[in-house]
Amino acid sequence: MSTYVVVGLQYGDEGKGKITDVLSAKSDYVVRFQGGDNAGHTVYVGDEKFVLHLLPSGVLQCKGKCIIANGVVVNPKAFIKEIEQIESKGLKTDHVFISRRSHVIMPYHILLDTYREEEQGGTQIGTTKKGIGPCYEDKIARVGIRMIDLLNPEVLREKIEKNLKVKNSLFEKYFEKPGLDVEEIYQEFLALGERLKDSIVDTELEINEAIKDGKNILFEGAQALMLDIDFGTYPYVTSSSPSTGGVCTGAGVPPTALENLIGVAKAYTTRVGNGPFPTELDNELGENIRQIGSEFGATTGRPRRTGWLDLVSLKHACMINGINNLVITKLDVLTGISPLKIATRYKTEDNKIIDYFTSSTTKLYDYEPLYEELEGWEEDITNARTYDELPVNAKKYIEFIENYLGINVYLVSVGPERSQNIIRKELF
Ligand code: GDP
Ligand code: IMO
Ligand code: MG
Repeated sequence: MSTYVVVGLQYGDEGKGKITDVLSAKSDYVVRFQGGDNAGHTVYVGDEKFVLHLLPSGVLQCKGKCIIANGVVVNPKAFIKEIEQIESKGLKTDHVFISRRSHVIMPYHILLDTYREEEQGGTQIGTTKKGIGPCYEDKIARVGIRMIDLLNPEVLREKIEKNLKVKNSLFEKYFEKPGLDVEEIYQEFLALGERLKDSIVDTELEINEAIKDGKNILFEGAQALMLDIDFGTYPYVTSSSPSTGGVCTGAGVPPTALENLIGVAKAYTTRVGNGPFPTELDNELGENIRQIGSEFGATTGRPRRTGWLDLVSLKHACMINGINNLVITKLDVLTGISPLKIATRYKTEDNKIIDYFTSSTTKLYDYEPLYEELEGWEEDITNARTYDELPVNAKKYIEFIENYLGINVYLVSVGPERSQNIIRKELF
């Protein structure tokens, strides 16, 4: 009985949802601790596809409780829509709870996100336009509306009035767009609070008691370290901390309680949205990987940029997260490609060879990745269920990653379906 943290190590979409789903079957709690409905976590159960945005991916299999903790930003309308979708497939959702401390994504956050992106032209971040950044801004500025506020009519009205005074002036004067109506938003969010009141609870006490009682608790990260507000490619990042450290502040859990720190990486790299991507393959091979790997955003449908595996950025991500167990997904997508390249160092603009990730996002565009080449394999690996069933070159690929990072790969994913895994060591 222990704690497990699943985080993304690249630019998101590593297959965290699939891994969380697998692990949640044995979990008493599955907890989301950051991000919001910008996430898109895909789980295949047989031929049936589920895409979770705000709900923990554990909702499908976890027999215990699914918690949206304080660090998450919650769009209540998106929450209800997702609950209804899951229920329409015959699954129960009465085990899902939201922290009273979670901040609420309001309509003005979504508009602000959208107007800012439109204004930027070619230099936009490429956000999901779900209002994530503006909601976290208000949280830090101490003017945010929390889930608990939806249950208190006076507080809710006062906070909406105060916020709209500022936001409407920005919309009307700066963006030359229409302002929003206080009464309309107040009535809508009061009704949402009334509808959700039984699901809005204090979560940190229960999570800490469950830790003391020795339950299995799985913390599910959204986004990934290279999109981290501090350690990603700022400003082309999201507005939260998708790292293992984010669990502590995002769920109210002490660092000493975190044990199994599981980092998920694809066997190659993808990125959706703008920003530097040193190993990008902006060519026919990149397009082939996109098609074979179905690399299209689960939230926005945008084509994902594709490229070689980048161990320089992966080392950075493992260091910040303290990863002690690796998961490599989508190894099957590399079948038939040879040679395979893996970036192990960068050459800087002044010809220095480095093997650490830089804080200078602008310089990163001029860095040249230096690659090691490995021979590929031709065999279909989607039916492999033990490590020994993998072709020797596929094993060499995995072992190259392990040796470079000094961390064991405990699970290799060879297909999107729940059962398409090679588990080398049972963690539970
Ligand atoms: P997440 O955001 O990290 O949960 O990842 P997404 O769900 O956005 O994207 C991962 C995509 O890859 C989804 O469509 C998954 O169904 C799919 N997937 C996950 N693991 C594998 C795998 O090992 N092989 C293949 N071919 N697809 C996978
Ligand atoms: P999952 O959990 C991939 C990206 C956006 C954009 C940047 C900021 O499915 O891995 P935001 O809307 O968060 O302000 O956008 O972050 N982004 C993701 N990319 N997977 C995600 O989530 C992402 N969530 C946000 O494309 O570049
Ligand atoms: Mg995703």
